[in-house]
Order: sequence, then structure tokens, then C-alpha cells
Amino acid sequence: MVGSIIPSSKILIDKMLGRVDWENTKLFVEYGPGVGTFTRPILERMAPDAKLVTIDTNPEFTSYLKESIDDERLVPVTGSAADVEKILSDRGLPDADFVLSGLPFSTLPPVSATRSPRRRRG
Ligand SMILES: C[S@@+](CC[C@H](N)C(=O)[O-])C[C@H]1O[C@@H](n2cnc3c(N)ncnc32)[C@H](O)[C@@H]1O
Repeated sequence: MVGSIIPSSKILIDKMLGRVDWENTKLFVEYGPGVGTFTRPILERMAPDAKLVTIDTNPEFTSYLKESIDDERLVPVTGSAADVEKILSDRGLPDADFVLSGLPFSTLPPVSATRSPRRRRG
């Protein structure tokens, strides 16, 4: 389920996060954070009043993030990215402004890999 034996490189992190409109991102969702290779750089760039919800199926990664990152903006959740709508609504959170996926698509069933994110209402 991890899908990779090495974490993403700094070049990839800078390239992917270079696309984010940080000023207007109040809720950031990260799928498959693992040990937090993207999580920490996201928090470094994120606004003080923004939130980062990480969703990983592996509870050990969720515990590790909780223990190793002391940041009130971080909400680490154990669960599947396929349940993102419920995970956000259970916590009274709105739709995400930005979603970053670190998921190994090779491990997802086709229906999950092709599902569209819910659309912003209002
Ligand atoms: C390749 S690692 C990514 C690690 C890190 N984001 C990086 O880029 O270095 C993939 C992660 O996705 C998690 N994962 C796999 N399937 C998932 C799913 N359906 N929902 C949430 N997380 C999932 C795994 O537990 C693992 O932590």
C-alpha cells in the first residue's frame, strides 16, 4: 500500500507546491502523507489561519505525524482518501481549497482512481 521505497525529492516537492495559491488556501488536504515528506513543507508555506488535513490508511503514519509535528493547523486522520467527504464533514470542515495526492495509484481500485472530487457549492 505504500507504493514507493523512497520519499519524494525536494525538486518534486518544490515543483508541486509551486502551483499552490497559498493566500487563498484555507483548507489543504493531503492524501497519503506517509512520514510527512510533503506535510512539513506544506505547513512551512501555509497561512497561519489555514488547516492541513492529512489522510493515510496506515495508523502508524498518522501516529508518527501526530507525535513528530507540533502544529495546531495539522489534522492527521487515519482513513482512506476515498472517504474524504465524510472525513471533512465529520469534522465540520468545508470543501478543500487544494488537494495533494501522494497515493500510489497502482494500489487503488479503478473506481477510486477515477472518482471526481466534490464540487464547491455556493
Ligand atoms: C508513496 S507513499 C507517499 C509518501 C509521501 N507522500 C511522499 O511523497 O514521499 C503512499 C502513502 O499512501 C498511503 N495510502 C495508500 N492508499 C491510501 C488511501 N486509499 N488513502 C489514503 N492513504 C493511502 C500509504 O499508507 C502511504 O503512506
